[in-house]
Amino acid sequence: MHDSMLLIDTDPGVDDALAILMAHAHASVLALTVTAGNVGLAQTTTNALKLMEIIGADTPVYPGCDAPLLRRPEADASLIHGRDGFGDASLVPAVREPENEHASLAMLRLTREHPNEITLVCIGPLTNLAVALKLDPALPRRVARLVIMGGAVTGRGNYERVPTEFNIGFDPEAAAIVFEAFQQFDLVDWEATTRYGIDHGLLQQWFERGDARAKFFEAISAHARRANIERGRQGLMAADALAMAVALDPEIVTRAETRHVTVEIEGRLTRGATVVDWTGFGGGKSNARIAMEVDRQRFETLVAAALGVQTDD
Ligand code: BDR
Ligand code: CA
Repeated sequence: MHDSMLLIDTDPGVDDALAILMAHAHASVLALTVTAGNVGLAQTTTNALKLMEIIGADTPVYPGCDAPLLRRPEADASLIHGRDGFGDASLVPAVREPENEHASLAMLRLTREHPNEITLVCIGPLTNLAVALKLDPALPRRVARLVIMGGAVTGRGNYERVPTEFNIGFDPEAAAIVFEAFQQFDLVDWEATTRYGIDHGLLQQWFERGDARAKFFEAISAHARRANIERGRQGLMAADALAMAVALDPEIVTRAETRHVTVEIEGRLTRGATVVDWTGFGGGKSNARIAMEVDRQRFETLVAAALGVQTDD
C-alpha cells in the first residue's frame, strides 16, 4: 500500500505498539528510533525490541534521547500505559540488543542514504528529531514526508496543563524546533484521536479472530483499555495508530485544514500548547495539514489486518 520507506520515531507505549504493528503489516520499515516519553528510554527501547520479536522483524532499533531538551518532564504516561509502558503484562524481555548508533545520528545517516524516499512518522516526544535538526538543518530537504502525532488543535489536551497534548507537552522546545523547521507536515492531534476511538467490543472480536499479534496486543493493552473506560473515553484512544493510518494511506483523511501551527514554550498556563492560526491573521505560512476527519472503516481495516484478522476486503 505504501511505497516509500518508513522511519518511525517512537516511545512504545501501547498505541505506539499498534502503530508499529500496522507499519510492519502494510509497508517497509527502515528503522525504529526510540525516545523517552510514555516511560523511560531503557524501557521504551526494551519494548521496541520485544515488539520486533513478536512481529518476527529484524528492523533495527536505535535508542536516542533519555530526557527532554531543557526541562524535566512534568509526568510520564505510565498511568495509561502501565509502569513498563506495555501494560505490566509480565512479558519475557527480548533477547535482541539495540543498535549502538544514537537515534538522531541514525536519522541523519538514513536520510542521507535514502534522500527523499523516507516517510518519517513521529509518534513520541520530538526530542530525537529536534537534536537531528540542530546537527543538520538540511534534514527536512531529504525527508519525503513527515507525519506527527501531537498537539490539541483547539486546546482540548490530555497532559498536565489543560491545552496541552502529551507528545508536545513532554518536550515543548523540541516540538517548537520541529514545527519551525519543516515547511509541510501532516498533524494528527489528540482531538482527532478522541473522535476515532476504537470500540471495545470490536477490539474483542479482533482479539478472538486475530493471530499472535492480536494476543500480544490484547495482553499489553488491557491496562490502557481499563484506564480509558475509567476516564469515560469513547473506546480505546489509539493516537499513534491513527497517525500511522494517515502515514500509510494519506487518502484516508477525508477532511483536513492546512494552517500555520506553532508551539508555545513559555506560557504559565499554556506551555506546550499547539497554537493554530485558524483565521490566518498571523500571516505565517501554513505548515501543518491537520487531519480533521478520516475514513473510519479504512482506519479499522488497517488496524484489524495488523492484528492478523482476515477481512473480506
Ligand atoms: C500520545 O501520547 C502518548 O501517551 C501516546 O503514545 C501518544 O503518542 C497521545 O497524546
Ligand atoms: Ca507514543
